[in-house]
Amino acid sequence: MKNAFDILNPQSRIMVLTGAGISAESGIRTFRDSGGLWENHPVDDVASPGGFRRDPKLVWNFYKQRYEQALSVQPNPGHLALKKLEDVMGDRFWLVTQNVDGLHDRAGNQNLIEMHGSLHSSFCTACGGNHPTGELDLEMELPTCPACNKMMRPDIVWFGEMPYRMDEIDALLNKSNLLLVIGTSGVVYPAAGFVMRAKYLGAHTVSVNLDAPDNDAFFDEIHQGKAGTILPDLLDSWIEKLS
Ligand code: OAD
Repeated sequence: MKNAFDILNPQSRIMVLTGAGISAESGIRTFRDSGGLWENHPVDDVASPGGFRRDPKLVWNFYKQRYEQALSVQPNPGHLALKKLEDVMGDRFWLVTQNVDGLHDRAGNQNLIEMHGSLHSSFCTACGGNHPTGELDLEMELPTCPACNKMMRPDIVWFGEMPYRMDEIDALLNKSNLLLVIGTSGVVYPAAGFVMRAKYLGAHTVSVNLDAPDNDAFFDEIHQGKAGTILPDLLDSWIEKLS
């Protein structure tokens, strides 16, 4: 079986998909580690439109805590290795993340799609306007829109809602020679299906994950362990072939 080092060349295009595991070493707990709960809350209460309708104060309180936690941690060597790879590859590199913590953005990645939204952004339930979460009055139980004063909501894609920029992701999958998937359990779709699609289209598929993901049968190359330990050396070896 060939590995990435054998197939990469200066024309190669890489798409990366990340999940909660890449932020674990920064100090943010993964979803599956919390036993189906998200920081002690049933996911349906804090990550669904119905949960927000039932108790918007609880949901806002929850996301304010997540936002403050995200601001209090730092990108780790796994995030920084991906920034280094983008610096070398430019537009032949794209990073798609399911994470909402903003750590890839803070690491400096620019070709970045936050498909599940971001804790750093919020939008108005009435006028639809987007505003940085940091510009809202987070002392309020229900933060209001700076433009129309109606209730804001976190700009997070909840269960039952459509992830962002799926057309662009589809186009990137179509033209990638390699898909690298990091720190995701492979159970939440559509992201869990990207590896099947990439493999069907003939791309080389690589997993870096602590435990075997649910969709591990679709990977050509598996690196089991911590992203912050594996990625710096692995991606440095790729950079040699790419530049
Ligand atoms: P999960 O919590 O389901 O999976 C995290 C994965 O990361 C597991 O497979 C772990 O083995 C692995 N992992 C843990 N620590 C790691 C490390 N240091 N290095 C590498 N891997 C590590 O998180 P996701 O798959 O990201 O959706 O969850 C997907 C979606 O489900 C989330 O985006 C969220 C959630 O409900 C929404 O918020 C819409």
